Amino acid sequence: MSKNKIHFERVCMEYGKDSRSRMGFGAWRGPANGKTTTVLENIDLEIEAGEFVSILGHSGCGKSTLLKIVAGFIKPTRGSVWIDGRLVEGPRADHMFVFQEGALFPWLTILKNVSLAVHSAADEAERIKKAREYLELVSLEAYEEYYPHMLSGGMRQRAELARALAARPDVLLVDEPFSGLDYLTRLQMREEILYLHMMLEKTTILFVTHDIDEALQLSDRVIIMNGPPGRLDSCRPVRAPHPRHLSNPALHEMRTDICRQLGVHAAL
Ligand SMILES: Nc1ncnc2c1ncn2[C@@H]1O[C@H](COP(=O)(O)OP(=O)(O)O)[C@@H](O)[C@H]1O
Ligand SMILES: [Mg+2]
Repeated sequence: MSKNKIHFERVCMEYGKDSRSRMGFGAWRGPANGKTTTVLENIDLEIEAGEFVSILGHSGCGKSTLLKIVAGFIKPTRGSVWIDGRLVEGPRADHMFVFQEGALFPWLTILKNVSLAVHSAADEAERIKKAREYLELVSLEAYEEYYPHMLSGGMRQRAELARALAARPDVLLVDEPFSGLDYLTRLQMREEILYLHMMLEKTTILFVTHDIDEALQLSDRVIIMNGPPGRLDSCRPVRAPHPRHLSNPALHEMRTDICRQLGVHAAL
């Protein structure tokens, strides 16, 4: 068995094989004609502890499906995923945090939302105290009594960052969290996520995106996915120091290469 943090072994996923997730989370149907759709094909991948890995690919190539399999929300049709040498058989909230848009409870203040993610506290007072510290780290301390709908999109994402910090996860799964944000806020959020990575230095981050610049600016390694059906095309280490500017010639060359590989010539 691999000593890496996350180990994917010939992971395949077909939708429509079964009418519902074999782990019992959510129900779905296959295509109306009763056929199955192959979404992931023989994914083999190793991710080291503490690594920040981006999975980059066109919409529909199976990125979210791959992340849901790691999170234990769905079970692959064939193959398996191992975390710390343990087979993923279902969600494990103790060490994993899934960061996505719209994950805050709308009926709770952001202080309460963040406090729910604090696992290490002895009692409620301690939980609230820690939640306040995390809100301060993302500069939201003045808004602790606000409900999520009272915040801007960027502030909501920062509250979500505070939740991720509070959870101190071993593995952080991020699925296109900034896709609903305007361009300037997205740029700001890139800085915030780097800050999060710095604070959670031992956390392994698997970050799904279709934004090439985002992947290049944030990650230690960019995995390019092609499809459908989703296949891993190549892995590219990104060795430039942070903060990274895309004008850096090495990054610029890599960007051009990735654009070609993904067939997006308009961005060249
Ligand atoms: N619950 C589901 N039931 C059936 N098909 C699905 C389901 N979720 C995703 N798919 C299909 O799987 C393919 C990959 O989807 P997804 O993993 O969301 O891609 P991505 O995140 O790369 O955009 C798509 O063709 C999508 O229609
Ligand atoms: Mg997706």
